[in-house]
Amino acid sequence: MGKDVIIACDFPTAEQTLSFLDRFTDRKPFVKIGMELFYAEGPAIVRKIKQRGHKIFLDLKLHDIPNTVRKAMTVLSGLDADIVNLHAAGTAEMMRAALEGLVRPDGSRPLLIAVTQLTSTNQEALETELLIREPMDEVVLSYAENAKRAGLDGVVCSPLEAAAVHTRCGAGFLTVTPGVRFADGDRGDQKRVMTPAQAKAAGSDYIVVGRPITAAPDPAAAYARCIAEFVD
Ligand code: C5P
Repeated sequence: MGKDVIIACDFPTAEQTLSFLDRFTDRKPFVKIGMELFYAEGPAIVRKIKQRGHKIFLDLKLHDIPNTVRKAMTVLSGLDADIVNLHAAGTAEMMRAALEGLVRPDGSRPLLIAVTQLTSTNQEALETELLIREPMDEVVLSYAENAKRAGLDGVVCSPLEAAAVHTRCGAGFLTVTPGVRFADGDRGDQKRVMTPAQAKAAGSDYIVVGRPITAAPDPAAAYARCIAEFVD
């Protein structure tokens, strides 16, 4: 898979999601389904969006004992998602178990990427609550290396970290990056942002874009602008 724009479909119902996707007539966007929509609508929403011809990043961030994650991943790979994820904090053993669980009977599997540290966690929380004393940048890169060694395909990270992840883990190790805003757009609650063109220059493999598309007056035009800046 080459560079692509993934739309974060953070909607509470299947109805809203499907009517939003009806607006895209030229090119079928890669869709991210997160916890909100999945917990509301269940596996059926994944099958339905897949049947419509979209690729799917199922963003459920698994984190449990290896055996439980292995079995859960087998269920998710049966939904025919293209990318799934987990927390690298679950350890290399959990990541390897997840990979085993993902392999389908025909030998194929979804791409598996890791969340390193959530961007909502700051240095203070890292040190005083999680008792991790290293600088955040180093923690993120070290967790990315753990994911690479466990056989994963990449990480979710800020576009500001994409170049360092590629330097440490190799150009082929995928960086999937949220925190993208148009140069003239509203940042919302995202603090460290890049434009789609900057994310491309930084080496991001996939950008995850939510509100700049979902809340745009013309979502299809906003999506086309992302594609023009990031892919074309
Ligand atoms: O609307 P917005 O473009 O900010 O949406 C970004 C999407 O990426 C949301 O679904 C958000 O949960 C997700 N995400 C993020 N930052 C992370 C990990 C995931 O914004 N570090």
